[in-house]
Amino acid sequence: MTIMHKLKSELGRQAMSRIKYEKFVPDLENGPGSAKRAGEVARRLGITKTLIVTDKILVDIGLVGPINNALQNAGTQTVIFDGVLPDPTVAQIEDGAEFYIANGCDGIIAIGGGSAMDCAKMIGAVVSNNKPPAAFAGAFKVRKRIPALIAVPTTHGTGSEVTFAAVVSDPVAQRKLLVSDFKIVPRVAILDPELLTGLPPAISAATGMDALTHAVESYLSPWATSYSLEKSRSAVKGVFDFILRAYHDGESDLEAREGMLLASFNAGIGISCGAVGYVHAIAHTLGYNYHTPHGVANAMILPHVLRFYGDAAAPRLAELARLVGLSTTGNSDEDLARLFIDRICEMQREMHMPTTVQGLRADRVDDMATIALQEAHGERHSMLFRFGEFMMDTGYPTIKHMTHGECARIVRHCVAPPSSKL
Ligand SMILES: NC(=O)c1ccc[n+]([C@@H]2O[C@H](COP(=O)([O-])OP(=O)(O)OC[C@H]3O[C@@H](n4cnc5c(N)ncnc54)[C@H](O)[C@@H]3O)[C@@H](O)[C@H]2O)c1
Ligand SMILES: [Fe+2]
Repeated sequence: MTIMHKLKSELGRQAMSRIKYEKFVPDLENGPGSAKRAGEVARRLGITKTLIVTDKILVDIGLVGPINNALQNAGTQTVIFDGVLPDPTVAQIEDGAEFYIANGCDGIIAIGGGSAMDCAKMIGAVVSNNKPPAAFAGAFKVRKRIPALIAVPTTHGTGSEVTFAAVVSDPVAQRKLLVSDFKIVPRVAILDPELLTGLPPAISAATGMDALTHAVESYLSPWATSYSLEKSRSAVKGVFDFILRAYHDGESDLEAREGMLLASFNAGIGISCGAVGYVHAIAHTLGYNYHTPHGVANAMILPHVLRFYGDAAAPRLAELARLVGLSTTGNSDEDLARLFIDRICEMQREMHMPTTVQGLRADRVDDMATIALQEAHGERHSMLFRFGEFMMDTGYPTIKHMTHGECARIVRHCVAPPSSKL
């Protein structure tokens, strides 16, 4: 399996190294009040009737109304689909697609976190290609580009506004489906920190840690390019500079919110080139099975996976430690890597983040590890032994191979009562 993993990783690296992600990065509008430019943006994209994809909470707290007005004032008609729930399902996407068609829309704006943005991407894939959401699971299965999509993130974590991925929960398959295709990348991303002043501290912490996980996993990735490495570094620095400020003073500290939005955007570019790794594979598994919020699960797993990498990650983590100012002269790479991981744990403690998964029992650990490694090693599709699937489903690029036993040990840390301290 190690050889297979290496082979797939190398195939993926060769494919990714030929792709210039710069070409796919959405146009960026940012700064306080930038969401009010949504109308101009829609007009520029030629949208005459916009489907607003969002959730009820965001409508109720008044985030959607002003953007809706801005769109209408610019001459685009709008209809609101507010049926998104955290971790959108196939059914929500189908409802949204029906709504889009019934209302004769020709463009989409997503207002919300990763759930709303992913739901919008998938609604776009369904209406453009006339196929059910599950048909796009895997890599490069979206034949026709989605309609013009404007992404307005209201959390600072997923980077979905810039990535070519969407994550969909499929209750039939009992797992999250990952859809990756350049044809679902939004055309414009609007990063407006004013939309995030009401983001509760716990969600600020969780989504910020998701961004950090993207930045770190992509920085360690064998697929990373010089372009993405720079973006990942910038994202790590942004999170270290701003996450605690966004957590403690997010209601008024617009600079911190903007810094986190940019970090999340840059980390999104990082994973678009370098992909994610074992942290995400385990976090997706726990998220699907126990409804652990995505960022919380990533935060919980990240330190354990970084420790598991040990020497393999030390030089790169030492670079990040120096970048965020943790270096003191004379420290070895191993010392610096340890300082970097410890600092992540300190930030998580300061933000009162959970270290265990509610409901996870010790007798489920082995199953969780099996599912996580199937995702990480690209075995889901390849298990079907279709050569095309095998070529595309390369799994995640990682600097060290993880065995089932090693993965189970990490998952076991998440069983309550805490069996380890961070
Ligand atoms: N496409 C990608 O590249 C990518 C990457 C990572 C994760 N994801 C996916 O994104 C989803 C998670 O997204 P998320 O972490 O952004 O959370 P989310 O979109 O699920 O939102 C979490 C909660 O926060 C609330 N919320 C959002 N913005 C708010 C605001 N400004 N004020 C108050 N409340 C607000 C929402 O109503 C929701 O209840 C998962 O499904 C995950 O798998 C996608
Ligand atoms: Fe993530």
